[in-house]
Amino acid sequence: MVRSGGARIVMMGPPGAGKGSVSERLADNFGLVHLSSGDILRAERASGSELGEKLKKYMDAGELVPDEIVTEIMIKAISQQDSSNGLLLDGFPRTVQQAQRLGEALDKIALPIQAVLLLDAPEEVLIRRITGRRICPKCGRVYHVDTMPPVNDSICDLCGTKLIQRDDDTEQVVHERICLYHQETEPVIEYYHKLGTRMIKVDADAPIDEVVSRAADRLTRIGLLESKERPA
Ligand code: AP5
Repeated sequence: MVRSGGARIVMMGPPGAGKGSVSERLADNFGLVHLSSGDILRAERASGSELGEKLKKYMDAGELVPDEIVTEIMIKAISQQDSSNGLLLDGFPRTVQQAQRLGEALDKIALPIQAVLLLDAPEEVLIRRITGRRICPKCGRVYHVDTMPPVNDSICDLCGTKLIQRDDDTEQVVHERICLYHQETEPVIEYYHKLGTRMIKVDADAPIDEVVSRAADRLTRIGLLESKERPA
């Protein structure tokens, strides 16, 4: 359950902006619950369920999964977590309808989204990042062939499994995903702006540690994250 006290942040940005990589590090550093809609949908697919089969055709083509399916899955996932230390939603909501449904669910417990963290980078950087991404099918660790390679070629540092490329990480599909981001997801930024939700824009065209530090500084300064540094 989401309880008061913890920050409630939506992470937004086009494919390859680094939402997953930055979320994972912020969650580790600040004890937040990180829920990635992409990871949750991929886990459903991997389970071999009937719903998982249905998701495959949308995801492999870079299309959005229908709002009603994603919203139900994500609201259920949120309600199952103890996110009293804070909640970081990565990749959800991705349409205005999803944002409205999430808002209704959080309004019921009087705990609205407090900030949107918006990552961005030039399109050629996004494409390089996506086409060079490799993931561990077992533990989910994310690598990049140039910027974050594993120690041993194609083998996960954490669990020794052979790395794979996501089916939707081809250049052709990434163009479709970026296009959909402009059409369907950018209006969500305007939606939160009109609600008066804080908008924190971070330039994500920098080394990952720098991007994480920029995001953490901004969120700490407005009191949504607590600095770990304590006076001696
Ligand atoms: P999802 O998995 O959410 O994909 P996405 O939004 O396209 O985002 P990505 O995971 O591709 O990128 P990211 O920004 O997280 O980048 P990452 O940190 O991995 O969704 C997949 C599909 O699921 C969708 O297409 C759709 O079908 C469906 N779906 C999901 N949510 C949905 C929703 N709400 N509604 C409907 N459908 C939904 O980084 C990418 C690479 O770059 C990595 O290799 C990383 O190592 C590297 N990298 C990252 N940052 C840096 C940096 N600063 N410097 C150098 N390298 C970096």
